[in-house]
Amino acid sequence: MPSLTELVRSHTDLEDDDVAWLQLLQADWQIIADLSFADLVLWLPDREGSGFWAGAQMRPTTGPTAYVDDVVGTFVPVGRRPMLDAAWAQQRLVREGDPEWRDDVPVRVETIPVRRHDRVIAVVARNTNLLGVRTPSRLELSYLQTAADLTQMIAHGSFPAPGQRSDHADSPRVGDGFLRVDATGRVAYASPNALSVYRRLGLSGDLAGLLLADLTRELVPPRRRPDEERLSAVLGGRAHLDTELATDQVALIVRAIPLRPTGDHIGAVILVRDVTDLRRRDRELVTKDATIREIHHRVKNNLQTVAALLRLQARRIDSESARSALEEAVRRVGTIAIVHETLSEAVEEQVDFDDVADRLGRMVTEVSAAGDRVRVRRDGRFGVLPSEVATALAMVLTEVLQNAVEHGYGPSGAPVEGLPEGSLRGQIVVTVRRLVGRLHMSVDDDGRGLPAGFDLDGSTNLGLSIVRTLVESELGGQLTVGVAPGGPGTRAAIDIPLE
Ligand SMILES: Nc1ncnc2c1ncn2[C@@H]1O[C@H](COP(=O)(O)OP(=O)(O)O)[C@@H](O)[C@H]1O
Ligand SMILES: [Mg+2]
Repeated sequence: MPSLTELVRSHTDLEDDDVAWLQLLQADWQIIADLSFADLVLWLPDREGSGFWAGAQMRPTTGPTAYVDDVVGTFVPVGRRPMLDAAWAQQRLVREGDPEWRDDVPVRVETIPVRRHDRVIAVVARNTNLLGVRTPSRLELSYLQTAADLTQMIAHGSFPAPGQRSDHADSPRVGDGFLRVDATGRVAYASPNALSVYRRLGLSGDLAGLLLADLTRELVPPRRRPDEERLSAVLGGRAHLDTELATDQVALIVRAIPLRPTGDHIGAVILVRDVTDLRRRDRELVTKDATIREIHHRVKNNLQTVAALLRLQARRIDSESARSALEEAVRRVGTIAIVHETLSEAVEEQVDFDDVADRLGRMVTEVSAAGDRVRVRRDGRFGVLPSEVATALAMVLTEVLQNAVEHGYGPSGAPVEGLPEGSLRGQIVVTVRRLVGRLHMSVDDDGRGLPAGFDLDGSTNLGLSIVRTLVESELGGQLTVGVAPGGPGTRAAIDIPLE
């Protein structure tokens, strides 16, 4: 379906400001369609003066439509719909005329010239499906009266009004709650839904005859309502504006459209919508997220305390091997703390693992004696991972990196012939590939390589045992440790499934 702007460009001489006016009208005309129980069609004057193009259309949500098919983009030549021609040529509302029959449906048509300043720029046709019309109730009469006021304003160029209303999707509809106030701001009519909204705010009697601004001031505590000026402007019906207010139980959006059908302010339509459930859901989401982040933050702090205690204990121990075992434990606890720290900053239970991996790389080289002779580089992106995968993977990566730094380049490895101790330098490359439903990671070093007769299955050292358990049981994947392609160095590789 072509857009309003496209239709204007290809068929009419309307200016940009005219289009802006029509778009403003379009933003609000659902209200008029609903109040009229009628379909609205915006007809644009053809450049050659030979007829009108349907530029936009709105169906009522309060009654049956008069148009089963879309009409936007269709053309009506001069002469076929005399009411369109009359509204355009005589610049007045045209409502006399017999019902038209369309597909066995009687439709009453009225045409409204759309005035901007001193010119008529388009015509709105209001089409009422008469099969839906019953003996009008008070509600229907109030709706229709207000619709008539608004259509007159369109013809006089005082609607749409370039107000400062916020353009949010929560904006109230006629069916949410409709009030009509008079020029002094007294309620002349309130729909049953509007009354229910005010009952929920704490009103016990009726709304009719009350000054809406005063009543609202009584029911809504000052800290939950807008400033005095805005409150009187909106609830007094003096400004084309909306606002939000609440008690401890109820939240609502109020929207006012002042009515000036003949130039003088005669009152306003005020629409109210109960948004309590919407706001509660917003709040719950925010607090749930905040709680989870806070928990991660505390877990991280606790782990760092544990690490500090272990480090203290390690310093007091004489046995070299016991001390290094405790230092390993400190490092492992620190790795988990890094993941929780990342989670405490994350919005969801998802971790951007690239950041974690890079931090682990720095941590491992910083704490190791051989670290300043080794660089860690990442090739590829881990991307976002669920927190359970992230925790296990962080442990795996730390152990493997640690082995590469210590055994590949450090003093704990076998001496290399012709090289003085502690002079081996090189680069560790972490390569990541995310395939559909899988993650592949390999850590290659160009160090001195695995000791002769190394056998992963036979290895009983703690580091690789942890890695294997995590990869195979926790992550449901596979681990291989062997010679790095093309070198004497080592490759540790894992392949794990991802949801
Ligand atoms: N990147 C590597 N380069 C050389 N040797 C390695 C490498 N990774 C593992 N190894 C060998 O595998 C052994 C087992 O490693 P691990 O289980 O982590 O225990 P640890 O690191 O405590 O010795 C190491 O002692 C080392 O001999
Ligand atoms: Mg190790």
